[in-house]
Amino acid sequence: MNSLFLDAAFSKQTERPPVWMMRQAGRFMPQYWEIKNKYSFLEMCKTPEIAADVTMLPIDLLGVDAAILFSDILVTAEAMGGDLSFTQGVGPRFSNPVQTLADVDALQVEVTDRLQYVADAIKVIQQRLDGNVPLIGFAGAPFTVMSYLVEGGSSKDFKKTKLFIHNQPQLAHSLLSKIAKVTVDYLNLQIAAGVNAVQIFDSWALALSWNDYQEFSHRYIAEIISGLNRKDIPVISFCKGSSVFAPVMAEAKPDVISVDWNADLLNIKNSLPEGIAVQGNLDPHILYAEKSVIKREILRLFERMRGQNGFIFNLGHGIMPDIPFDHVKYAIEVVRDFRY
Ligand code: CP3
Repeated sequence: MNSLFLDAAFSKQTERPPVWMMRQAGRFMPQYWEIKNKYSFLEMCKTPEIAADVTMLPIDLLGVDAAILFSDILVTAEAMGGDLSFTQGVGPRFSNPVQTLADVDALQVEVTDRLQYVADAIKVIQQRLDGNVPLIGFAGAPFTVMSYLVEGGSSKDFKKTKLFIHNQPQLAHSLLSKIAKVTVDYLNLQIAAGVNAVQIFDSWALALSWNDYQEFSHRYIAEIISGLNRKDIPVISFCKGSSVFAPVMAEAKPDVISVDWNADLLNIKNSLPEGIAVQGNLDPHILYAEKSVIKREILRLFERMRGQNGFIFNLGHGIMPDIPFDHVKYAIEVVRDFRY
């Protein structure tokens, strides 16, 4: 197996930084659209052969050092009873948003049977990967998943979610506990099915104040990480807001912290306990720019990180759908050609 990714995740020395990109299996790829035009997004997630086809696209076309399971963070919320749909141009929607005690009570927590399709997809993907590169599984963090359940979809300001945690903190905690329990079971299901690493996505943590982050996000992530069957399986903790919250994220004991693009990555690394690797942190907007700029910015980051064990190259957040495919491919070539 190409163990560059796993070596870096466990803070071992590598000859160059490994590379993968959040949302590498997605809409910026013309080949994604060839599949997407035939099926709905949820059909793609729930059909193991199709999920495997999409997972393999960046391996075959870009040469990244890790595959990420094609799925979505909201499948846990759907399995719990959320009525989820994805509409082009609108994004995810829950037609039955969570507002009351009765809504929280109605959500199920024994849902691994309903997520079996993910385990099936992982098995197909591992056959296709054939030991060449590791497969990253993932789940959403409770706060971020809760925000979709409460808002009924995406939100700019998280107004309903914040009102919910501030006016009904006990109910929010009961919802977060339910999501955390489901998430532990779900990630352990992925590990049992054969993923080689897991990433927890807390994309919208940056909406929270320092105190609210500890109370409504961090403690549930810590609970999840401590519940994982993680022998030889590195755990990556990602959030937008990590340039502020990294020291708190470290207390949950992940192997890797995935950092947004606001911080100097070396300063973050140096501020963390020994043995926690970092992942990141190119501003994804750099991939819109000219190739000379893309190369300069990647090499600038690599010079800064030279001599560090425990560095995985990635973006500070996902690839946007309208970034030119050719630019993403070029960025990955720059990384693959580099040597420390
Ligand atoms: O990274 C990968 O390539 C693996 C697959 C993956 C998807 N979603 C596929 C997807 C992963 C890891 C996710 C995680 C996810 N989903 C997050 C956390 C990561 C992040 O980017 O912050 C979040 C917040 C979601 C929720 C979600 N799913 C949203 C907001 C949307 C709509 C996005 C938009 O701009 O319209 C989705 C849909 C989604 N998830 C798509 C893909 C490829 C697009 C579906 C389509 O083709 O219509």
